[in-house]
Amino acid sequence: RRSEHKAQYHILDEASAYYQRQLKEHPSRDLAVNYLKSRGLTGKVASFFCIGFAPSGWDNLINAVGGTSEKANLLELSGMLIRHEEKDSLYDRFRNRIMFPIRDARGRTIAFGGRVLGDDKPKYLNSPETDTFHKGRELYGLYEARKLTQKLERIVIVEGYMDVISLAQFGVTYAVATLGTATSQQHLERLFKTVSEVVFCFDGDKAGRKAAERALETTLTSIKDGQEARFLFLPEGEDPDTLIRAEGKDGFEKRLNEALPLSEFFFKSHSQGSDMTSIDGRARFSSEALPMLQQMQPGLLKQMMIDKICEITGLTLEQINSTIQLVPTSAS
Ligand code: UTP
Ligand code: MN
Ligand code: MN
Ligand code: MN
Ligand code: MN
Repeated sequence: RRSEHKAQYHILDEASAYYQRQLKEHPSRDLAVNYLKSRGLTGKVASFFCIGFAPSGWDNLINAVGGTSEKANLLELSGMLIRHEEKDSLYDRFRNRIMFPIRDARGRTIAFGGRVLGDDKPKYLNSPETDTFHKGRELYGLYEARKLTQKLERIVIVEGYMDVISLAQFGVTYAVATLGTATSQQHLERLFKTVSEVVFCFDGDKAGRKAAERALETTLTSIKDGQEARFLFLPEGEDPDTLIRAEGKDGFEKRLNEALPLSEFFFKSHSQGSDMTSIDGRARFSSEALPMLQQMQPGLLKQMMIDKICEITGLTLEQINSTIQLVPTSAS
């Protein structure tokens, strides 16, 4: 089992080296290089993130890296090759794409994201879950952030590969991205082992705001005293990549410094749609917010947010507790 994993890591590093080489040597490399240039990436940042190119064709990777049946088998296990059931043959999963290797905390390649060079769909293709790649656990860019920043103090969580890379290019060298999945408890646990502050910064669109709402719920139920989470909302139509290109490092970091604290986002989000000047509105707000607060870890943040609810609603803690038990009573 272990040695199989080891061989899988090894073959993925080989695949990564192959894709990087194609960006330098393949006859159609200009397509890929020009695309990266059009996105404003420097060669330096591209090579730091080991960006590569998967040429078009169905059997490039198999032929270059999967020469033996053992190696082809490993590539299949790693999600790099797909089996055509009827023909009982294997073909390359990633074709004609810019390749972003995803590395684990130790720097081993564990998966890839591949972007089309134009507007085809799907825009990004990611490796499937495998023995060595668990999306709910891994964060793109964490390994690189650790290498780029001597002492990490905060981490920015963004949506995409290009966001992480652009931010790094412009000097915000502490961004990571989840891999096409929602931020999980495991992600947060891992991040809070490294830093005491995370800032969520999703795209300035409907999907991005939805992702922030989901991250709010996940973070609220797991955050402990000594940990801080904040939310940065970007102007409509912007993502971290476009914004840092427009405003530079200083502009972006200024926004980060002013990002909305978790508790403020919580109260803002749950009071939205309720008329807080009426009893009815405050009751509706309370019935929505209280069950959420109930799920928080015990501690100062929870206490203070409960105090705030009392302040907003005019209810005492005893009155609230008789409806929904927010804090354990001495009896329990
Ligand atoms: P976005 O659609 O915001 O793309 O998806 P982006 O990162 O800004 O991409 P560019 O700037 O057009 O290159 C955000 C992230 O969601 C995942 C990818 O991880 C992507 O980086 N995603 C998106 C997919 O997995 N598949 C898709 O088809 C699209
Ligand atoms: Mn495993
Ligand atoms: Mn988006
Ligand atoms: Mn983008
Ligand atoms: Mn985006």
